[in-house]
Amino acid sequence: VTSDLFERAERFALPDELRAADLIPFYLEFTDLEATRAKIGGRSVLMMGGLDYLGLSADPRVRQAAASAALGAGTSRTGSRLHCGSTPEQRAFETLIASFLGREDALVFASGYMAQSGLITALMDTDALLVLDERAHASILDGALVARCRVRRFAHNDPASLEQQLARGAGSATLVMVESLYSNEGDLAPLPEIRAICTRYGARLAVDEAHGLGVLGAAGRGLEEHFAMPGAIDVISGTFSKSLASVGGWIAGSRKVVDWIRFHGRPILFSAAISPASLAAAHRSLEILIAEPDLVARLQANSRRWRSLLIGAGVPLVKDPAGPLASVRIGDEKTCLIFSRRLLEAGVYANTVLHPSVPRGEAVIRTVVSSAHQESELTYAAEVFARLCHDLKVNGSVEPS
Ligand SMILES: Cc1ncc(COP(=O)(O)O)c(C=O)c1O
Repeated sequence: VTSDLFERAERFALPDELRAADLIPFYLEFTDLEATRAKIGGRSVLMMGGLDYLGLSADPRVRQAAASAALGAGTSRTGSRLHCGSTPEQRAFETLIASFLGREDALVFASGYMAQSGLITALMDTDALLVLDERAHASILDGALVARCRVRRFAHNDPASLEQQLARGAGSATLVMVESLYSNEGDLAPLPEIRAICTRYGARLAVDEAHGLGVLGAAGRGLEEHFAMPGAIDVISGTFSKSLASVGGWIAGSRKVVDWIRFHGRPILFSAAISPASLAAAHRSLEILIAEPDLVARLQANSRRWRSLLIGAGVPLVKDPAGPLASVRIGDEKTCLIFSRRLLEAGVYANTVLHPSVPRGEAVIRTVVSSAHQESELTYAAEVFARLCHDLKVNGSVEPS
């Protein structure tokens, strides 16, 4: 029990041995970011953890759009749309993404985290039931905490477990929420089964397409396109921070539902609107994605190549990857930090994913490919992963998805 709220902060110290060995990823300093390379602490590395799926963050057309918007429209909207009004650019983006996804309307947010929170705080109240995949992103759970709705979780990507939870909650207004492509596991939500169960129990279905937009389906429209089930999802959400090479978020759905969220989602009411530069970068990225579906095809080809290189080299993966995210199963957190340090020494950057992003003892190194990676870059990275797994005695087996 602490008597002073600052006491824990004052006692807090990062473990000396981690700090001394320079093992804490938070302190890495990135500069000179390009599509597949960046400098960390002044040294050039190959990015295998950039989440810039289509390589657009380095695209001069996207950079120019952001710069022109900052010069022309200012650096901040300074307030919420409720109080400070909207811009034609916000509406233009909403119209474009709604039509790309075959929806009546869409709404833009200042981040993906806020989009989840906006959707959930608007739709859910204390009587409503939110049924979540146990691996669903923290932003979804945090939205539920603000909405103070009832929450149940089902076993990851397990339709039978979803059905059990819905059967227990019969009679409540229910929203089922899943991710399309899971960010730490790299596997896909089984949309056909989930949709059928939601329909059977009268539940609405929301899908977070943070890692699906620009990644899944021939045109990059996401999970519905991947499974050829247009219109199967009741409300879709996503972020700008992956394929759209920016910072922001969005939801898309029927005109009535989007309107409801527009006037009841707390981040729309109580937080400043997205900056013009961030919006312009995402808008330009979406235009490029729509005009150049070949980018998506390249990403998917690179994803398949990376998967077979890793599996061929015996690198133990958490799941058989369904897209560009492949997580190497490490387990112990300190080994994971050492692994990531050794990767950097070999000139490769990937994401160190520790608790609370994953359960304790299930640390992973997450790798991400983009459409911009060259075959030689993937081959080199796979060799480094195989060598480090051998040297650090990292082994395990692939769990088929
Ligand atoms: C699955 C998922 N949902 C939501 C978010 C939150 O998006 P943002 O970073 O735009 O807040 C993320 C992380 O970026 C994510 O991985």
